[in-house]
Amino acid sequence: MSSQSPLPDGESAAAHVDGERLWRRLGELAALGATGGGGVRRLALGPEETLARRLVGRWAEARGFSVTVDGIGNLFVRREGRSPSAPPVLTGSHLDTQPAGGRFDGAFGVLAALEVLEALEDGEVSTDAAVVAVAWTNEEGARFQPGTMGSAVFAGELELASALAIQDSQGVTVGEALARVLEESGVGEPCSTGFPLSAYVEAHIEQGPLLEAARVPVGAVTGIQGLRWFEVVVLGEEGHAGTLPATRRRDALMSAVDVVHALRAVLADPEDLLRFTVGRFECSPGSPNTIPGRVLFTIDLRHPDAAVLTARADLIAQTCRDAAGPCEVSVQETVSSSPVVFDPRIVELVERSARRLGLDCLRLPSGAGHDASHMARVCPTGMLFVPCAGGRSHTETESAEPGDLAAGARVLAEVVCELARAR
Ligand code: GLV
Ligand code: MN
Ligand code: MN
Repeated sequence: MSSQSPLPDGESAAAHVDGERLWRRLGELAALGATGGGGVRRLALGPEETLARRLVGRWAEARGFSVTVDGIGNLFVRREGRSPSAPPVLTGSHLDTQPAGGRFDGAFGVLAALEVLEALEDGEVSTDAAVVAVAWTNEEGARFQPGTMGSAVFAGELELASALAIQDSQGVTVGEALARVLEESGVGEPCSTGFPLSAYVEAHIEQGPLLEAARVPVGAVTGIQGLRWFEVVVLGEEGHAGTLPATRRRDALMSAVDVVHALRAVLADPEDLLRFTVGRFECSPGSPNTIPGRVLFTIDLRHPDAAVLTARADLIAQTCRDAAGPCEVSVQETVSSSPVVFDPRIVELVERSARRLGLDCLRLPSGAGHDASHMARVCPTGMLFVPCAGGRSHTETESAEPGDLAAGARVLAEVVCELARAR
């Protein structure tokens, strides 16, 4: 690191955020796992994510930043500060995507974080604390459940050994997949997980419609709503589709349909704040002329108020049992995350930084889950959002404007500089 910046605080770093470099890199990353529909399929710890890690590691090492990987595969890119005793400021997101996901969910936060490190370097800004960019392992939870796995382990909310033993639908464990990723990506020296931090800030596309509707380029995120996941198994009896009369059947699919209908009625919300989704519905044995004997489906339930979420989630098991008719039903809770309120000082800092850069800023809660929810339990934490087209996310059609992404990265640079006490 050379001489100090002539500009105060984060201004030099923000001024050195290179929106074109950020946009170009987002394009290069989106090519890894690109789908025919313009989206990305880059499942956690899969071959495309291995390539993404290698690419990010190469960019980081080319700039002289150190790259490390902890026991669950979280990837850290570090730019040193002046004071070795000051805990680092961490910023980042994730490189994995949904099975048919978009180009910006996660990727923006990782590359914005790397862009901040680049801008600090380009602006010759010296920070007291080190600034570390992170790519968390398995945020999405599409291949291995639960999601936000890397940050949960980092924050001590999930034991490393338990996480490594979790299997995907093919019986591959996180540990096995991770060993392959580390061998093939060749990126990062091993490091311990859960090191002390002075703050965590994550940049992300909003994944909802509010910023776009308000024509505001930056959101200061106030918190994240609570989430509960369940797996429901309906067990009936297989039989011949052509012979068995309706009165003799224990058709798991028909019962599952009744169960979902009943859940939909019980979980209806006139305020439209409760979010209820059945995103996976698997019917076995899946033959046109065999009566289904088993159905597995998932429930994703979310609400910003912990009491409301608990009250509604408590209705699920009994509703399933009451509606299952002649079939048996079992309900297992797989994930539970309480609503999170972000540190008000970071919410204010995001707002102040946006305004200093001449950008309008709106306070808003996050409907989507993020690694920031685990980090909020271990250090002062906040997030900033940028708009995405139509509020669309978790689809191949996810889209965001280069100018908004660059603006978000500039605000992130200011925020990080203030937290790391730049001069
Ligand atoms: C994260 O992708 C979520 O499901 O909110
Ligand atoms: Mn995300
Ligand atoms: Mn996502």
